Amino acid sequence: MRSFRLFLWLWLLLLLPGLPAAQQQGAIASAHPLATEAGQAILAQGGNAFDAAVTVGAVLAVVEPYSSGVGGGGFWLLHRARDGFEVMLDGRERAPLAAHRDLYLDSKGEVVPGLSVNGPLAAGIPGQPAALAHLATRYGRLPLARTLEPAIRLARDGFPVDEHYRRMAEWRLQQLRQWPASSQQFLIDDAVPPLGALIRQPQLAETLGRMAEQGHDGFYRGAVAERLVAGVRRAGGIWQLQDLTDYRVVEREPVRGEYRGMKIISAAPPSSGGIVLISMLNQLALFDLEKQSPVLRKHLIVEAMHRAYRDRAEYLGDPDFVQMPVAQLIDPDYAAGLVRDIQLDAATPSRYEPASDAGEGRDTTHYSIIDTEGNRVSATLSINYPFGSCFVVPGTGVLLNDEMDDFSARPGVPNVYGLVGGEANAIAPGKRMLSSMTPTFVETDQGVAVLGTPGGSRIITMLLHAILALADGGGPEAWVSRPRYHHQYLPDAIQFEPGALSVEEQRQLRAMGHRLKPLDSTYGNMQALFWNRESGSLSGASDPRGIGRTEIK
Ligand code: DON
Repeated sequence: MRSFRLFLWLWLLLLLPGLPAAQQQGAIASAHPLATEAGQAILAQGGNAFDAAVTVGAVLAVVEPYSSGVGGGGFWLLHRARDGFEVMLDGRERAPLAAHRDLYLDSKGEVVPGLSVNGPLAAGIPGQPAALAHLATRYGRLPLARTLEPAIRLARDGFPVDEHYRRMAEWRLQQLRQWPASSQQFLIDDAVPPLGALIRQPQLAETLGRMAEQGHDGFYRGAVAERLVAGVRRAGGIWQLQDLTDYRVVEREPVRGEYRGMKIISAAPPSSGGIVLISMLNQLALFDLEKQSPVLRKHLIVEAMHRAYRDRAEYLGDPDFVQMPVAQLIDPDYAAGLVRDIQLDAATPSRYEPASDAGEGRDTTHYSIIDTEGNRVSATLSINYPFGSCFVVPGTGVLLNDEMDDFSARPGVPNVYGLVGGEANAIAPGKRMLSSMTPTFVETDQGVAVLGTPGGSRIITMLLHAILALADGGGPEAWVSRPRYHHQYLPDAIQFEPGALSVEEQRQLRAMGHRLKPLDSTYGNMQALFWNRESGSLSGASDPRGIGRTEIK
């Protein structure tokens, strides 16, 4: 009888909302099942969301080498439950100190194709190692030796090649073959590895081991730093030891806005993400979107995208180098001015002819984490193009980014994503290149969403679609799977996924003067979570376009 009563009590305890915290670990959505699993294991060992963020970021660096890595950078948006403190860790790459504004131009002032995309000259100074060390020491409670352990193990013992790896390696095969250390690390016999083959990265395991022992300095000083600089210079790059010893994470105040009673907390410069997202939402708040016909709704959304991306090109860059009218750009009154020339039946033409198409968005990565204490992390990380610059620095296992291409190499000349820029995003020594990465929190009456995605220039409009789906009452599944279309001012065209616009909508949009560019595949890889404050329940979803996994425990 006594044991039955005890059983009854335990059963009742489990039913009480908010109380079963002891049984719960938290929720993680990431682009790779091995990363989600490793993060959950860290939560189970008593780590908080920030510890899990170190683990997930480091494992992704190993198992998704085409997307992010310790040779790259990113942004980590944090919410600390204890005091509500919110901050964005800026672990963005910086231009080397020997870089200058005309780095990628020939003697006639023309951009040299490929120079900012392939090889060591394309690489900015990595920020991810510094950000992981900062997360661990400032916000986590477990030592790096513990949180980096899963990544070290996977780098040493290997992970199996999947279809996605094969596609990415195929795409960058010629460049990976250029550099012996890259071919050795990511190819087998100089060819794309077969499905299931193990990719072992012993030198990367060693580099991660030094970070586990020495934290920040394990990467930016000593043997690793010396090898990085020597290897880059031998292959034609311009890094110096001072580039590495000078590198610091910057804590920045997130950008904040509102849409239909929801609070948006998002990435600050040097990401354009939060500003462009809030500008689009501010513009759309001036129309009753839900009352419009489907085609008029799409027209208005595209017109808002056009205006926000026009401002991106003109004003945005590294806040430590340029003065930007941020407060104005996210002000609802300013949005009212922007929408004044929107016509309900005609597209606004962009000022120039399209110079180039936006590149495909399949690399870069995002993960979202919520722990049972209510700590949250929304992180988007990148090495830019698939496999970054394709250059592995010999003796380090570190694959370098090609983030320098996110600078404007010359005013008006588009980068691999078709984005243009001007003075604000020109190259300068030590400057951070403008990004589109948009890790975001959305606070609603019911709870909090944590979300983000890769996808180059299209990242910000993917976040817009997700937030509009949330405003329409949908849950994480709806946010990550809603069909996507995109306009970025230049090129002057609506790009859209197969099925995102019906044949009739396409006809009507063309009649308004919109130029349409159907894409032959889908794009993006969103990872989203929702914590329902009332019920205490966690839910989430990984984009059906990718191989990611959401685990709630
Ligand atoms: O920071 C940026 O905006 C880009 N380097 C992100 C690149 C990206 O998302 C690639 N695609 N999926």
